[in-house]
Amino acid sequence: MRARARLAEPLRAVARRLDKRHARRVALAANLLDPPIDLSDHYTDHLGYAIAGMLARGNLWCFDQALRHLPSDAPIVEIGSFCGLSASVLTYYKRRLGLRHRLVTCDSWGFEQAMAGDVPVSRADYGRFVKDSYVRAMQTFAAWDLPYTVEAYADDFFGAWRAGETRSDVFGRSVTLGGPIGFAYVDGNHDYDHAKRDFEHVAEFLEPGGHVLFDDSYDGSGWGVTRLMPEIRARAGWELVARNPNYLFRKR
Ligand SMILES: C[S@@+](CC[C@H](N)C(=O)[O-])C[C@H]1O[C@@H](n2cnc3c(N)ncnc32)[C@H](O)[C@@H]1O
Repeated sequence: MRARARLAEPLRAVARRLDKRHARRVALAANLLDPPIDLSDHYTDHLGYAIAGMLARGNLWCFDQALRHLPSDAPIVEIGSFCGLSASVLTYYKRRLGLRHRLVTCDSWGFEQAMAGDVPVSRADYGRFVKDSYVRAMQTFAAWDLPYTVEAYADDFFGAWRAGETRSDVFGRSVTLGGPIGFAYVDGNHDYDHAKRDFEHVAEFLEPGGHVLFDDSYDGSGWGVTRLMPEIRARAGWELVARNPNYLFRKR
């Protein structure tokens, strides 16, 4: 097992030099050699069958870690909810750990790059379908503890957070944003510029001892967010907790 894991790092180094499409294949092979710690169970597997999404199994361990070490009662924030798979898992973990922290999520459901094919389905149709799926998933798999979900781009969401604005959420409730954040799951636009802005926003509000997890940040994933990881590692005040294989950081 250790010999296999030793092979994984050189493969990841190769992946970092390849273009996005090939990098993903090689990175996947590396992850097969050096698999992440997987906390998935019967329930999370079945969430994955029922709800569309791209939740990496290794993120479950990161969620568990971050939620077990929340520094205070400050909320958990998710950027990018899609159909609600990760929000359902976070809600499940909150229940398992007996946590009453508010989960506040945001998604634009904009899909500027979707629907490029020659089909009579508009981007708006696609966005509406995904948003409706999210609402339905939450009403089923988080009915006892509905997250507060604001339909917004991340920049707008954090602007509202800074201003302490009250917004209506997708379930028709009012939610007042603002204050410290205990854990942030960053899974919106994975381009470098967006991920960097998301990080700077999170850094502004994350409590000392709080965690931030970046989806698709694993080495060689091909997403722009990977460029940000060494920058955060080099930044004072941030500690790399794990690469499982996505990067989980803790604010000192
Ligand atoms: C990878 S999906 C999220 C998957 C979800 N976290 C899960 O695991 O089930 C990314 C989501 O981010 C949203 N998104 C993309 N750019 C965004 C932005 N700038 N602000 C807010 N949401 C964004 C997309 O609409 C999409 O639903």
